[in-house]
Amino acid sequence: MTTVENIPEQLQERIDMAALGARAAEHEALTPAAREELIAHIKRMLREQNAVLVAHYYVDEKLQDLADQTGGFVSDSLEMARFGYEHDAGTVVVAGVRFMGETAKILSPDKRVLLVEKNAECSLDMGCPADEFSAFCDRNPDRTVVVYANTSAAVKARADWVVTSSIALKVAEHLTARGEKILWAPDRFLGAYVQRMTGADMVMWQGSCVVHEEFKADALRDMKRRYPQAAVLVHPESPPSVIDLADRVGSTSQIIKAAREMDQETFIVATEDGIFHKMREAAPGKTFVLAPTAGAGGSCKSCGHCPWMKMNDLSRLAKVLQTGANEVLIDEDIRRRAEVSLKRMVEFARKHISPTMKLTGNA
Ligand code: 13P
Ligand code: SF4
Repeated sequence: MTTVENIPEQLQERIDMAALGARAAEHEALTPAAREELIAHIKRMLREQNAVLVAHYYVDEKLQDLADQTGGFVSDSLEMARFGYEHDAGTVVVAGVRFMGETAKILSPDKRVLLVEKNAECSLDMGCPADEFSAFCDRNPDRTVVVYANTSAAVKARADWVVTSSIALKVAEHLTARGEKILWAPDRFLGAYVQRMTGADMVMWQGSCVVHEEFKADALRDMKRRYPQAAVLVHPESPPSVIDLADRVGSTSQIIKAAREMDQETFIVATEDGIFHKMREAAPGKTFVLAPTAGAGGSCKSCGHCPWMKMNDLSRLAKVLQTGANEVLIDEDIRRRAEVSLKRMVEFARKHISPTMKLTGNA
């Protein structure tokens, strides 16, 4: 396995700054009446601008509700990409992080794509600079390049395939069956999981998610003792020792589905805590507990909170619709090349996951 030193030194500083922004967003100082007025104003602007709001499960629940109420969509990153692509709105507003906005623009160049917060990044994307990644690919010319959706447009442009966590196993199986060897980036934990489950021949970039890497296996074992009837649901960006304790491993949509379908009444959940909003809707009456990030070796920088997802809020959304700020623009040559690897994923999903998707409601 190839190891690449790739986390920029300034990463921690930027995470701290994002956390400050996120805290500000959480404390959006609005009275209930002012909030209602703001929501009504946003709904009017969405209608007038033929705009649709697409939100990830990790963003503030008020934004998730607004997406649902206005014919938009709340989902995982694969279905967000498909929704923006298949919907006929002229403007797609993305409540999530930057790679999600870029993905929408790559697939829909003729649409206006706006990000609620342009500084909403992702540690996986930040830890995989395009020039270093390209050099890594050059050193492994015999491998099929598969990148996680949590990357920049320039990294996607260098890839043969883009995958999300909900489709990664199927794509790796497909490539392995064709005898192809894989170069994988950037998440080393998701990569290790895919390798373990499929037996694929993979070399890996060594990136990680600052939220999921903090879940702790020892503390999770203790928690399981306290909730002996609970099922453990884990996102595959988590460390292998945490994945080993899971009853189900899956993308955000797959975790929500598991909570709805499994018989257990209590779930310990190792992913970002914004997901609890939709889990409670999907499985009312069941109990959800965040998996531990503290305990032995715990640093708890994020505590199940993605600092960038939490930068998205109602005021920023209103401002973006008012001013047209935060439009996603991508160099056309990069976009065209990234479109090839992304469309490969979308077409594969159409064949192997579901041929069509609903254009309203939840994934
Ligand atoms: P999903 O594709 O499972 O929604 O994951 C996106 C993400 O950023 C997880 O941290
Ligand atoms: Fe990136 Fe992790 Fe945040 Fe997901 S939770 S957007 S992988 S930093």
